[in-house]
Amino acid sequence: MTRLARFIVALLIALALLTWAVSGVVQTTTHEWFERDVSARVRLVLASATQSMADTWYDPEGLQKQLAAIDHDQRVIGVAACNTDLTTRSMAPGLPEEFRCPEVGARVRAVSGAEGESNPRFREWSTIATLPTGRVLVTAMPIVSQGQVLGYAILVHDLSYIAQREARAQTFLLVVFGLLAILSFGIPLLVARNVRHDWSMELRKLLHGGGKQRREFEPILGDMRELIARMADEREDSPGQWTAERLKQVLNRNLHGEKIVILANREPYIHFYGEDGRIEIQHPASGLVTALEPIMHACSGVWVAHGSGSADRETVDRHDHVRVPPEEEAYHIRRVWLTEEEQQGYYNGFANEGLWPLCHTAHARPTFRAEDWAYYQKVNQKFADAVCQEVDSDEPIILVQDYHFALAPAMIRKRLPLATIIAFWHIPWPNAERMGICPWHNELLEGLLGSSIIGFHTQLHCNNFLDTVDRYLETRRDREQNAVIMRGHKTLVRPYPISIEWPVHWVEAAPSTEECRAEVWKSLGLKSDALLGLGIDRLDYTKGIEERFAAVELLLERHPQLRGRFTFAQLAEPSRTKIERYKDLNETVERLARRINERFGTVDYKPIVLLRSHHEPPEVFRFYRAADLCYVSSLHDGMNLVAKEFIAARTDLRGVLILSEFTGAAQELTEALIVNPYDLEKSSDAMAAALAMPEEEQQDRMRSMRSMIGRFNVYRWAGTMLGDAARLRNQERLAGRLAEHSPVNSTV
Ligand code: F6P
Repeated sequence: MTRLARFIVALLIALALLTWAVSGVVQTTTHEWFERDVSARVRLVLASATQSMADTWYDPEGLQKQLAAIDHDQRVIGVAACNTDLTTRSMAPGLPEEFRCPEVGARVRAVSGAEGESNPRFREWSTIATLPTGRVLVTAMPIVSQGQVLGYAILVHDLSYIAQREARAQTFLLVVFGLLAILSFGIPLLVARNVRHDWSMELRKLLHGGGKQRREFEPILGDMRELIARMADEREDSPGQWTAERLKQVLNRNLHGEKIVILANREPYIHFYGEDGRIEIQHPASGLVTALEPIMHACSGVWVAHGSGSADRETVDRHDHVRVPPEEEAYHIRRVWLTEEEQQGYYNGFANEGLWPLCHTAHARPTFRAEDWAYYQKVNQKFADAVCQEVDSDEPIILVQDYHFALAPAMIRKRLPLATIIAFWHIPWPNAERMGICPWHNELLEGLLGSSIIGFHTQLHCNNFLDTVDRYLETRRDREQNAVIMRGHKTLVRPYPISIEWPVHWVEAAPSTEECRAEVWKSLGLKSDALLGLGIDRLDYTKGIEERFAAVELLLERHPQLRGRFTFAQLAEPSRTKIERYKDLNETVERLARRINERFGTVDYKPIVLLRSHHEPPEVFRFYRAADLCYVSSLHDGMNLVAKEFIAARTDLRGVLILSEFTGAAQELTEALIVNPYDLEKSSDAMAAALAMPEEEQQDRMRSMRSMIGRFNVYRWAGTMLGDAARLRNQERLAGRLAEHSPVNSTV
C-alpha cells in the first residue's frame, strides 16, 4: 500500500470514529431539546386553555366546544376537564382510558399533598408515557377561578413525531459535521501538498544554481551536493573501479601531485635484530598500516612514525629517513625517536590506558593521569615538528592518523596555516557524555579542529563528534557542509569507511587455496576431514577473544559430532604488553583455551590452537585461504580490516565470515553471518550454520562481499578524502585565503 493510500485509509477510519461519537451526542441532545420544547408549548397552551375553561365552567356546551377546539390540533390525542372529586366534567372522545379524570386525578393528588391543605389540591403535573401508538406527554393543570380551584384539565399530546424530527435534525447535523471534517482535514492537506510542491521546486531551482538560499535547505543541499560530487568522482575516468593508478591521477590533477605526508604512530616497516643477529623486517599487525601502506605506495611521500624496532636506528640515514618498501623504495619513513618515559606516558598511558578504553565500549575503565597528559602533549608537539620539517611547500597535504595525535593538527596548523590537514580517527568516537570523562576533552577537540577535514568510519561517529563539539566548545555549525567553524577556521566532518587495497598483493603472491589448506593442515596436524575455524587479532580486550572461545566451547557442547573434527585456530599477536589489562587478557585467554582443550581435547585432537606470536602477512593469508570459517567477534571496533582481508583472500569463493554487529565492517559486509558476540548461543549457532553451509550459498555470499570491497577499496577511501580536500582548497583559494601566487587549477 502506498503512503497516500495508507493515509487516506487512516483518515477514513478517524472520520468514521468521530462521526460515530458525534452521532451519539447529537442524538441525546436533539432528543432533550425537542421534549423540552414540546413540554413548554403544551404548558403554554394548557395555561391559556384552563383560563377559558374556567370562564365556561358552568356552561357545558361552551366547555365542550372549548375541548373540541383544543382536540382539533392533530398532535393532541385527547383532552378533558375534571371536577375536584375526580369525575369527568367534559371530555374529547379520543382521550386514552388510562389518562382519564379518575386515573390522572389520583396521581395528581398523590403528588399535590393531602386533601384539605391550604395549597390547591391540584398542582401542575406531567409525565411521558408510552402507548402502543407511540410516546405521549400527559399534562394536568388546575382550573382556577378567582382563587378557587374548580377542577383540572388533562391534555395528552403526541410525541411520536419528535422521533421523525430528531432523525431529520440528526441527518442535517451529521452532514454539516461531515463537511466540516472534510474541510478541516482536506484544506491542510491541500495546503501541505502545495507547500511541498513549492518547496521541491525551490530546492530544484537552488540545485540548478538559481533561487535564494534558505536556511532550512542547508543540510539537504549539503547532502545532495556531496552525493552529486561523489557521483561525479565515480564517473571520472573509468567508471567504478578505483585503482592505485587512478588515485595517483587524482592527486596529480587535483592536488598538483603534491607530496603526501602521513603522520601515524605505527611505522609500516619495522627493522629488528633477528635471533641470528641479522637485521630483519616486520610488517606490524595494524589495520591502519594495512590500509595506508598501499596509499603511500601509490602516491609516494613521507610517513612520519615512531621508530620502534630494535634495528630502526641502524637503518636510517642522517635525516632519520629510510626508503621503503625494501627493493622498491616508493616512499620513505621518517622515524621519530621516543624516550622510555615518553613512550610510557604518551603511548601506553594517555593513548592506550586513557583514550582507547574511553572510545571502545568494552568494559575497561579509562585511566587519565596528569603526567601521561603532559607526555601526550609533548610527544604530539615532537611529531608535529617532525611533520613540519618534512613538508616541501607551505600548502602541504598532511594525513594525521588516529587517537595518538589528537593535538597534532592544531600544532601543525599553527606553523603551516595553509596546510590541508586530514585527520582520520580509526577507532569509534563515543557520545558527548562519555567523552566528557576525559579531563582534557576540550583540548583534544580543539586540537582536532585544527584539521581541514576530520574523518570517521561511520556517520554515527561523525554525529557523536559533532555533538561533543556542540556540548563543550563555542563553535558554529555549517549544516550544509557538515562542518564546524572555530575561530574562523572551518573543519569538515565526514564519514569515510576505510578499506583494503584491491586486489591485495599478498593474495596475488599466495599459493593456491588447495596448497594453503594442505600447508595449514600439516602445520596444525589436522585430519583430512577436519574443519577449521579462524580468528586473527592483536591480543586486545576489544576483540572479544574470550567470548569467541566460549562460543567454540558451546558449539562443541551442543554438537558432539564436531568434537574431534572442528579446530579453532587463533592467531594472536601480543600487543601493548606493558599495560596491566593486556597482561591479564593474555593469561585469561591462555587459561580459557587450556580449559576447553582439557574438556574436549584428546591425545591427537586440540579444539583450540592458540598461536601467540607475530605472523607475517604470507602466513596470515595462508590461514585465511585455508579456513572454513573466520570469526571476527569484536566487542566494539571502528571498522575491522581482518573481516575484509578474509573476504579478499577467498579467491575460491569458499569459507564463511561470522562478523560482530559491533564492528564498522558489519554495516558494509551484510552477507556475513552477523552476530552479537555476547550472545554465545547465537554465535555458536552461527558457527554450526557456517560449517554446514552449502557451497553454493558460500559462493553467493562471497561473491557479493568481494564485489563490495572491490568497489569500495582503500584507493576509493583515499581518493574521496583527497577529492574533498581538493574542493576545500579550491574554495579557500577562491575565498582568498591562500597566497596569490599559488597554482589555481583544481578541476575537482
Ligand atoms: O585502529 C586502531 C589502531 O591504530 C589500528 O591501526 C590497529 O589495529 C591498532 O590500533 C594498532 O595498535 P598499536 O599500534 O598500538 O599496535
